[in-house]
Amino acid sequence: MPVIQVSGLTKAFRTYKKQPGFLGAVRGLVSRRYDTTHAVRDVSFYVEEGEFVGFLGPNGAGKTTTLKMLSGLLHPTGGTASVLGYTPWERKDGYRRQFALLLGQKNQLWWDLPARESLALNAKIYGIAQSQFERTVAELSELLSVREKLDVMVRELSLGERMKLELIAALLHQPKVLFLDEPTIGLDVVSQKIVRDFLREHNATRKTTILLTSHYMADIQELCQRVIIVDRGSIFFDGRLSEVIDRFADFKLITIRLTPAASPAAGCDRQKLESYGEVVEQTAATAKLKVKRDRVIPVCKALLDELPVSDIDIEEVPIEEIIRQLFAR
Ligand SMILES: Nc1ncnc2c1ncn2[C@@H]1O[C@H](COP(=O)(O)OP(=O)(O)O)[C@@H](O)[C@H]1O
Ligand SMILES: [Mg+2]
Repeated sequence: MPVIQVSGLTKAFRTYKKQPGFLGAVRGLVSRRYDTTHAVRDVSFYVEEGEFVGFLGPNGAGKTTTLKMLSGLLHPTGGTASVLGYTPWERKDGYRRQFALLLGQKNQLWWDLPARESLALNAKIYGIAQSQFERTVAELSELLSVREKLDVMVRELSLGERMKLELIAALLHQPKVLFLDEPTIGLDVVSQKIVRDFLREHNATRKTTILLTSHYMADIQELCQRVIIVDRGSIFFDGRLSEVIDRFADFKLITIRLTPAASPAAGCDRQKLESYGEVVEQTAATAKLKVKRDRVIPVCKALLDELPVSDIDIEEVPIEEIIRQLFAR
């Protein structure tokens, strides 16, 4: 049975529109004017045990709202969800002990305590035995290379160090399901890689089911077998990342290398190149062209026939760019 089952999940926020001035305030008492934001609309998906799913979407798409509902922090306006057999917003103790939510933009640790004590407080809240606590902290702090930071005040830690400790705090009770909302946001590249490697290993060895949102495609590409793309509250795509390329990449990149003897006079000036496709890069001896998928074969043929080409290479547009274009439209 799937670990996470979401069906028709919907969340509308009513925010209330203040009317200007004193009269507006008085009128507001009589007839309140509301704005409705449909943050999540009719979202349905299943996640099996051990899956590592990337949740993608532009800002405001409803990712955080979905994760908050699955963590029981928010009640939905409609629909159902079941995680490990629990309805998250019923906030049963049994559920609380089996999942964790990490919000990259928020802090769960106490700032005025050394990291280790802050973690110990978290452990107390979950009723974790001292021996398990010590074992887990030793192991995870080693893997995340923050062992020597455990006695530093949380407020004195760098963002990356703090995030790693947040991650340790989230894993102290060995949750079966993990919701990670932008866990690598703002981290330096070294910390990003450490966190990424750690998560991959954790998912592989513990079979933890993970739902991850990230602005960094590297996270998604390296970790997630499956991506769910949301846009304006609705699911727009659910499948493998490679399918996103097949379905949404309209272009390919063709790189040509010209024979050393070929000079611009040999007919390879910018204007000539532009007639084959959009020139995205050009050096003395090479040019990279962006060409519509269905034009790739005729364009390659024409390039070989008409220019002194010594080598030719065809590649996909980077997934990062495809996603950017998807979000832009
Ligand atoms: N507490 C709230 N009250 C009103 N609107 C909200 C609240 N939380 C989120 N929203 C709105 O819901 C939409 C989805 O937000 P969010 O789930 O944070 O998106 P994402 O995480 O994908 O960037 C946005 O339009 C946001 O402004
Ligand atoms: Mg968000």
